[in-house]
Amino acid sequence: MKDFQGKVAVITGAASGIGFALAEAAAARGMKLVMADIEQGALDGAVESLRQQGAEVLGVVTDVSSAASMERLEAATLSAFGAVHLVCNNAGVGGGGCLWELEPDYWQWVLGANLWGVIHGVRLFTRHLIAQGEGHIVNTASVAGLMSAPGTGPYTVTKHAVVALSEVLHGELRNANAPVGVSVLCPSFVDTKIYLAERNRPLPDEKKNDPAYIEEQKLIGEMAGAFFKTTLSPAAVAEQVFAAVEQESFYILTHPGVKDEVRKRMDAILHDGKPSVSGPEAFPLA
Ligand SMILES: NC(=O)c1ccc[n+]([C@@H]2O[C@H](COP(=O)([O-])OP(=O)(O)OC[C@H]3O[C@@H](n4cnc5c(N)ncnc54)[C@H](O)[C@@H]3O)[C@@H](O)[C@H]2O)c1
Repeated sequence: MKDFQGKVAVITGAASGIGFALAEAAAARGMKLVMADIEQGALDGAVESLRQQGAEVLGVVTDVSSAASMERLEAATLSAFGAVHLVCNNAGVGGGGCLWELEPDYWQWVLGANLWGVIHGVRLFTRHLIAQGEGHIVNTASVAGLMSAPGTGPYTVTKHAVVALSEVLHGELRNANAPVGVSVLCPSFVDTKIYLAERNRPLPDEKKNDPAYIEEQKLIGEMAGAFFKTTLSPAAVAEQVFAAVEQESFYILTHPGVKDEVRKRMDAILHDGKPSVSGPEAFPLA
């Protein structure tokens, strides 16, 4: 897809971070926007700020993990703009912890946002792109979809799945001769609010108001916040995404150092090695 002017972009997780930067980049190219997010207040602010920059924007409060909510997003998009050209299945949450200690509700929360969100986005929007004979889908995975770091289990499982889903989608569209592009975005660290992802986790009031939980989240916010400020900007990621859409690139590796890590993993697979990633500290910073 090379011509964006007047076309329609649907972006999930658009109220913050990479999603908001994708929305800004799409607006700068003259696209009409459907911005979807679970966080009503942040979404309202994000929609307003792009409207003030002159963009035509529809904001839709959406829980990407819910089939019904995503079906409402599809209906709202078609009713407002009658078409959809660029779909960014981007919403996501962090999710770490030791595999034999995590509870099922935590797994469900992370799989719901990070994997079911992409499944629903592909399930609902791809057929419209095929029917109109034009379009591109960008699924946000992560470096964690290419490396398997101890301590990041649920997140890594979802992101490997998003890479696999995107590869299968690419092959199915090619086999169907459908003129629809696919890319999978695999960033390492980006300066967003991902480290505060628990803000969108449905939790019982008892847990949300537990002083120990509040203190733990405050500490994570302070420590991770200082680190994330040193990482790649969401705007730089969004520019790489639009370049990939224009050039029909499939894998978007925003941090060149990721290539060395992929080679190490493939060497281990091909030469009877063992997984060697120590933890998320091994994710390349550049
Ligand atoms: N920041 C990084 O270092 C990094 C690295 C690799 C991949 N990613 C991926 O980038 C994507 C965007 O995350 P970000 O870093 O911009 O974080 P962010 O927290 O700044 O933005 C994520 C957005 O997704 C929304 N969201 C969360 N759950 C949702 C749900 N169920 N339904 C709808 N919206 C929901 C949040 O409200 C938020 O606005 C995620 O898929 C994340 O896994 C981020």
